Amino acid sequence: MSDENNFDKRLLKWYERTKRDLPWRNTRDPYRIWLSEIILQQTRVEQGLPYYRRFTENYPTVHDLANAPEDEVMKLWEGLGYYSRARNLHSSAKLVSSTMSGAFPDSSEQLQELKGIGPYTANAIASFAFDEDVAVVDGNVHRVLSRIFNVSTPVNSTKGKAEFQALANKLLPTGHSAEFNQAMMEFGALQCKPAPDCTICPFAEMCEAKAQDKISELPVKERKQAKKMRYLNYLMIHNGERTLLQKRTNKDIWQNLHEFLLHESSSEPAGIEELITNIKPLQGPITSDFSIDDRWSSKHILSHQILHVNVWIARSPQASLGSSNDGIFEASLDDVVNKYALPVVLKRFVEEKYKDIVSQ
Ligand code: ADE
Repeated sequence: MSDENNFDKRLLKWYERTKRDLPWRNTRDPYRIWLSEIILQQTRVEQGLPYYRRFTENYPTVHDLANAPEDEVMKLWEGLGYYSRARNLHSSAKLVSSTMSGAFPDSSEQLQELKGIGPYTANAIASFAFDEDVAVVDGNVHRVLSRIFNVSTPVNSTKGKAEFQALANKLLPTGHSAEFNQAMMEFGALQCKPAPDCTICPFAEMCEAKAQDKISELPVKERKQAKKMRYLNYLMIHNGERTLLQKRTNKDIWQNLHEFLLHESSSEPAGIEELITNIKPLQGPITSDFSIDDRWSSKHILSHQILHVNVWIARSPQASLGSSNDGIFEASLDDVVNKYALPVVLKRFVEEKYKDIVSQ
């Protein structure tokens, strides 16, 4: 193993020179740090920044977030994906606001009892807000440590998780966890990237992967099972002014977001007939007297599934789209855009197709 002694000093020197000025680095408020860490799970800094600003402007304290209506929180989260993060955020805010008088737990262990906070996020909050000596280990940190110290244990295996956590804890200088953890993440994000420029790396002469020409082979990840294919087949039935919408209530992707009439299948649907047969309200109260104007398609890749999204655009000649049932309701085309939170794929559909629909 390389000399570990100077690791922290080299890293902190590099960080001092290179660090970005990010708003959550200028606060010790656990609420703001928590917000930033939840937003930054699975999200790049550039994408997360505007959301962090919006949330802190709309909800300056945990009480403000706790008291906000759920639909408003979901609307503010719209576009970030992985919506369970927003639901957990809201539910944990309520708990901290009501049963803890707004004071976040001050240790990593207790923080992990809140919904949506795993070991990584708990260590981040505990070190940044409370100086607890616990190391953060995420994808960035895996890359840095596996390369510099030539660790080829799969990062997503039980053994690998324990090994990387122990190594990071050992390297962390006592009493400086906040700066050290920020520096590790920043180093992984800016310097030790998937395809790094090692000519300007402060660890170049001690990096074992570089010496053995193994940069591109590390970190090692165990193969997970193949992604599930899902076909989400929507019928957007409208009369030029209003359309039919429903809220997704099941424990599944996009819970509490809105969508058009849906027929889900596990393979490509045969055609619009398959939708008409399977979308129940079309057999009952909602007229099937409509013409199909267009079809829009998009593929959306999530961590464990691949979504094939098809939207058939149907115009109904009637002024009213009929009475609704099964939680289906009429919404003006304007409200679909401005009032209801939509999954990002359907938001893109609306942005690309609305002008055609409204101008007909
Ligand atoms: N990604 C996750 N947490 C981060 C942080 N605090 N700063 C920069 N990137 C991050």
